[in-house]
Amino acid sequence: MTTVGLIGSGHIGGTVARLAAAAGHPVVLSNSRGPDTLAELASELGPPARAGTGQEAAEAGDIVVVTIPLRAFATVPAVPLAGKVAIDTCNYYPQRDGHIPELDSGALTSSELIQRHLAGSAVVKVFNNIFCKHLEWLSRPPGAPDRSFLPIAGDNPEAKAAVAAFLDSIGYGAVDAGPLAEGRRQQPGTPVYGAPYGSFDDEKGQPASADAIREALAAASR
Ligand SMILES: NC(=O)c1ccc[n+]([C@@H]2O[C@H](COP(=O)([O-])OP(=O)(O)OC[C@H]3O[C@@H](n4cnc5c(N)ncnc54)[C@H](OP(=O)(O)O)[C@@H]3O)[C@@H](O)[C@H]2O)c1
Repeated sequence: MTTVGLIGSGHIGGTVARLAAAAGHPVVLSNSRGPDTLAELASELGPPARAGTGQEAAEAGDIVVVTIPLRAFATVPAVPLAGKVAIDTCNYYPQRDGHIPELDSGALTSSELIQRHLAGSAVVKVFNNIFCKHLEWLSRPPGAPDRSFLPIAGDNPEAKAAVAAFLDSIGYGAVDAGPLAEGRRQQPGTPVYGAPYGSFDDEKGQPASADAIREALAAASR
């Protein structure tokens, strides 16, 4: 089992936590307001889950999921995350996050920005391209013919392998999307963002095969 720490436990963080707990992984939830505000979610998820501070989630996790509004990235505790795999689900929306010049210019991807902050961690970009409801509904066991796939980008092959194994355990396949710099191919507005999993109006979504994800990644312009 892999202990999963959550920095942020909202729509996406809560869904990843739910899938992880259902697969039997210990889960430590955290948010900006404190553990008391997550007691209900923790009890809903059952014994594999507990609520803690961000520091506690970062310390406890074998894999730590950073899933917050991007504007708050600098508040993520870097020291306890050193040497660990950090999953980045975050997207950059200037209208929500404020303007970040390096992202506006395209000099960096949002995951490279987070990797620079978490210099001692191995950041892997995943879950950023799927609507939280689709993530909840499209989980399928290994070998299921209608299994869905998610693109993963990262600079560290071992971290990507660990994330692919975690995805497998919670019902998803992985498609290697290259290094973090190539993560721009799965950012908002690209062909692989949202659409392969169906309309947002249908919360159950539609399965997306590995080939569909590869084709959508290939269709993204640089
Ligand atoms: N929703 C989706 O379908 C979706 C899909 C793919 C990617 N994403 C991306 O994933 C990220 C999270 O999205 P979301 O929809 O889950 O957002 P959300 O529902 O608004 O949840 C955000 C979570 O982050 C926490 N948070 C905010 N600031 C924090 C801080 N400084 N330190 C620790 N925790 C903090 C919030 O806690 P408090 O409530 O206590 O502030 C909340 O638990 C965003 O970057 C988003 O663009 C979302």
